[in-house]
Amino acid sequence: MPKTRTQFVCRSCGGVHGRWLGKCPDCGAWDSLEEHRVEKRLAAAGVSAADVGLSAAVPISEARNARPGPDRLPTGIAEIDRVLGGSESGRGLVPGSAVLIGGEPGIGKSTLLLQAAGAWAADADAPVLYVSAEESAEQVAGRAERLGVGDRQGLYVLAETSLSRMTEQARQLQPAVIIIDSIQMIEDPEADATPGSIAQLRRAAGLLVTYAKVSGTAVVLVGHVTKDGQLAGPRVLEHIVDAVLSFEGDRFHAGRVLRALKNRFGTTAEVGLFEMSGQGLIESDARLSAAAAGDPRPGSVVCPALHGTRSMLVEVQALTATGFLGAAKRKSSGLDAGRLSMIIAVLEQHAGLRLADRDVFASVVGGVRIVEPASDLPLLLAIAGAHHGRALPPSLAVVGEVGLGGEVRPVSQLEARAAEAVRMGFERIIVPKGSKIQTPGARLDPVASVGEAIERLG
Ligand code: TYD
Ligand code: MG
Repeated sequence: MPKTRTQFVCRSCGGVHGRWLGKCPDCGAWDSLEEHRVEKRLAAAGVSAADVGLSAAVPISEARNARPGPDRLPTGIAEIDRVLGGSESGRGLVPGSAVLIGGEPGIGKSTLLLQAAGAWAADADAPVLYVSAEESAEQVAGRAERLGVGDRQGLYVLAETSLSRMTEQARQLQPAVIIIDSIQMIEDPEADATPGSIAQLRRAAGLLVTYAKVSGTAVVLVGHVTKDGQLAGPRVLEHIVDAVLSFEGDRFHAGRVLRALKNRFGTTAEVGLFEMSGQGLIESDARLSAAAAGDPRPGSVVCPALHGTRSMLVEVQALTATGFLGAAKRKSSGLDAGRLSMIIAVLEQHAGLRLADRDVFASVVGGVRIVEPASDLPLLLAIAGAHHGRALPPSLAVVGEVGLGGEVRPVSQLEARAAEAVRMGFERIIVPKGSKIQTPGARLDPVASVGEAIERLG
């Protein structure tokens, strides 16, 4: 029997403590510590050197070239490779790295990774292993067929939930990439902890990350998160993996965004844009609802928003309806709720709109989320337009940050935004005053204040 010791692990932040406490000193969560016993040798890292055959220390000058092989494993799917990071000469997954992909159940993580697995298998010299802990091998094969990777040589599927049986298969197959779908379902029968607990999750993930480092196999872990990002899981793993990606969107729309939240091998500014179709995820480099491109309507404004370093046109919509004074609703979807309240206050103070007894609803069409202040002015014009029943002229896009004094402030990367607007047929753009750009075909309509912008409503 190995020597054991009791540890208390916080369910929300993953902090480890020597004794039970009512409140986690690391994150302040109450009643979140979970007791479990660990072998003494595992206590420090959650992994034992003997488990994975860790090697000795090497001089730093020799460490760099210790592992021969490619620098990156590209999928060839540009929207994925860009998020994984790298340079012009090579983007993609780094061999020996551990990547966590989080997302709500049903968003399309399995679909994305099966498509990526097929692409890696076509390209890499070694096989690719897709471990499904949630579906049978037949189910995965059926889906692979629909995604067009059903007969890919070098793509292996394994339906398994046991960590030891899985790593055993990996040792035999020596894959270039292992995908584990999902890490929450993997259990280590040897670990003295209940399946699905934080202790199991940490140990399984810890072992897999070390396995990746030692073997040179890239390990991709899929993790479910709930809407509020809570629930036992990915949060706890964030610091042990090299990159954390998040796959977002809303289940009722086709648009999906792949975003890097952490990346030791690249920037976190890039995003990948996809659309869910009958044949899986397809890359989409620009998206705009058909309605926005047609006749203008009150309450609808097109905004060239930035996603990562790229611009994409989105339609911001607003609706005002009779509400109750003192209890008027303010609801937003795809937009920041605090920003909506602020825009409403600016409209009341600086544009004379009376919204105290009006319910205000605002959303971004297509399930996209925009978090940048450059969408302030589009949102403001959507609300004002909806309130007055007035629409903007056709083929007009809007961008600008709104200050508390009712002034319109400059935004970053206007050239990229204008270029995208022109490309999509919006030649006129309402922009903050003082903006100077040289984008062919773009006609700028500068405004200094929200009052001036509202005058553009027909
Ligand atoms: P899935 O990848 O299973 O999501 P996750 O692994 O994140 O839980 O896919 C979710 C949904 O995507 C599923 O309800 C059906 C849909 N879907 C398509 O629309 N087209 C497709 O080609 C596939 C494979 C799935
Ligand atoms: Mg899945």
